[in-house]
Amino acid sequence: MLKIHAAEKFQGEISVPGDKSISHRAIMLGALAKGKTTITNFLLGEDCLATVDCFKKLGTQIEVGDRITVKGLGLSGFKAPQDTLYVGNSGTTIRILSGILAGQPFTTEITGDASIQKRPMKRIIDPLAQMGAIISGKKEGEQIYPPLRISGGKLRPITYKTPVASAQVKSAVLLAGLFAEGTTGVLEPEYSRDHTERMLKYFGARVRIEEKNIYVNGGPKLTAKEVDIPGDISSAAYFLVAAAIIPGAEIVIRDIGLNPTRTGILEVLRRMGAKVEVFDEEIISGEPRGTIRVQGPGSRVQKIKIGGELIPRLIDEIPIITVLATQAEGQTVISDAKELRVKESDRIAAMCSELNKMGAKITPTEDGMIINGPTPLKGSTAQSYGDHRIAMSLAIAGLIADGETIIQDTECINTSFPGFSKLLEGLAR
Ligand code: S3P
Repeated sequence: MLKIHAAEKFQGEISVPGDKSISHRAIMLGALAKGKTTITNFLLGEDCLATVDCFKKLGTQIEVGDRITVKGLGLSGFKAPQDTLYVGNSGTTIRILSGILAGQPFTTEITGDASIQKRPMKRIIDPLAQMGAIISGKKEGEQIYPPLRISGGKLRPITYKTPVASAQVKSAVLLAGLFAEGTTGVLEPEYSRDHTERMLKYFGARVRIEEKNIYVNGGPKLTAKEVDIPGDISSAAYFLVAAAIIPGAEIVIRDIGLNPTRTGILEVLRRMGAKVEVFDEEIISGEPRGTIRVQGPGSRVQKIKIGGELIPRLIDEIPIITVLATQAEGQTVISDAKELRVKESDRIAAMCSELNKMGAKITPTEDGMIINGPTPLKGSTAQSYGDHRIAMSLAIAGLIADGETIIQDTECINTSFPGFSKLLEGLAR
């Protein structure tokens, strides 16, 4: 449980924990490479630790400390696990790892918590089955859910047109492509986060990128690397939004990932009128990073329309953008975001229900929300639906609400942002 009171001041210079998406991939590619990979600023959240645990069960030696070391045995070094692999709450682990398991000459069972067992898996099963893997799961109507049973082996290369812009689907197919003879391609309808492509290149794979089409060659020799992970812009987003809506607030966040496939939140803040500065930009371990400073507009933020190609570039930030939009002058419309319905919770339903309880005026649509602002918020008792991003977004809403906001079931925050409430306490007065 978290208790939040209205903040009169919000100010500070901080860094946030390592990027979740990049942390997962660093373990996976470290395990697929030959030699000792060292990872610094790894996210020690439950989701990424679940990935570590799965690879240990597949026979990879991994030491977790201030830095992580992964002793990779190459593409064919894994052994059949004794137990079912358990991914906890991590959709990224189950979907991307399935791509690797599809290339293994043994059968693996993989599952996760109650939320994972409601996450659709047909989107990865379809292409992996086309490549030759045999995958079964819990069938309900047209959809298939975990637990999954994956029998893999040598795969056929395919060129797969993904119906949804999903980095998890793209990554599952590209990693399966490492176990296919020839070139595997993924064609995306919109750009999704490209951490897998970047890291594959960084570890020595042959990757060709032609706009939204990505090709990888099978059977590469991947070489161990040092990977330093930037702070997670999705975690930073909570504080960036707080700085934009609390009068007089200012935040500086150092060493934040600035991959252009992830910076949609900065565009939204700018277009709504907040002052956003980015400096100290550099590229480390194949990923751009820098320092971000955000201040509010001095008056109210303004309504905007959010949809189309922008959506995959801020998909995980939509819950906190909803909080931002409650303070905007006019009607903010979010569309093309149907994917929110099948995340860790139904994020459209969750944000509408909890923010409306606090006094917001939000109407859900099939693929987004219409938010009429500005509305003052009042403290209430809110539910997280076991979803880390809902819990943290409501905590920020609490900072601008009158009275006390109680957020229930906040353990889930540890999946992506251990230390969130401590950092928040240090910034808000
Ligand atoms: C992720 C991709 C996104 C995102 C998730 C992490 C990744 O999911 O929502 O939190 O690391 O590849 P989709 O691929 O389903 O869009």
